Amino acid sequence: MAGRGKTFFAQYDQEGRNFMHAQRSSPMRDHRRAFRAQLTAPLKGKKLLDAGCGYGHDLPFYAKRGALVYGTDPSKAMIALARQQCPDVSARLSVQPIQKTSFPDRFFDWVTSIYALHNAPDLQPAFREMHRILKPNGLFIYLVQHPLFVFQRTRHQTYHRKETIMFTIPDMEPPCAIRQPAHTFSEYFSPFVLDRFELLAFAEGREAVPLWFLAKLKRKV
Ligand SMILES: C[S@@+](CC[C@H](N)C(=O)[O-])C[C@H]1O[C@@H](n2cnc3c(N)ncnc32)[C@H](O)[C@@H]1O
Repeated sequence: MAGRGKTFFAQYDQEGRNFMHAQRSSPMRDHRRAFRAQLTAPLKGKKLLDAGCGYGHDLPFYAKRGALVYGTDPSKAMIALARQQCPDVSARLSVQPIQKTSFPDRFFDWVTSIYALHNAPDLQPAFREMHRILKPNGLFIYLVQHPLFVFQRTRHQTYHRKETIMFTIPDMEPPCAIRQPAHTFSEYFSPFVLDRFELLAFAEGREAVPLWFLAKLKRKV
């Protein structure tokens, strides 16, 4: 369990291996299938960053399609696991959060991110950073927890209030609760974001209360 006082990243440092085993038992959930359906253009020869790559579940998938794959995650333990799982990509894996990276401007053709962006305390710095490191017309495809799902877990039941929720990751043994910030749709699609990116696609989970949504953004020139 993530206790009080632990830094946010330490939660994943501690739980990384259990998380990997839980995911491995059901690696292609609907959300990942929906995400991959958005990868319509060829990846061959493209520089691709998986931001918040965790233990590296998706890195081999991108590498097999010919992308030059980079991966970042703020959790040292997650990156250590990713290095073991994906030795071919190891030299291009680094410990850094999505909101502040060390990559040069206009470096990537694609940035992908699954269930990671919502962990950023504020979304604007993360979108600013993705805009900075993408080439003009580069694609940022992300999938995050759905604000409705998150709202259900807020203490104050006030949609626009800044809150940290506790979320229990499914299928983990022992159960693992993670603290994370709640975000609204207006943060994901703020004027700041829409000034810098064109929205190409949007999809959301089909559950009674959707678990996730995804967006495919193109960096404006
Ligand atoms: C649920 S895991 C998903 C990992 C991977 N993308 C996958 O689909 O298996 C969430 C990941 O987000 C990472 N994370 C936490 N804060 C982050 C931040 N500010 N920027 C990027 N990733 C973050 C965690 O360390 C963890 O590896």
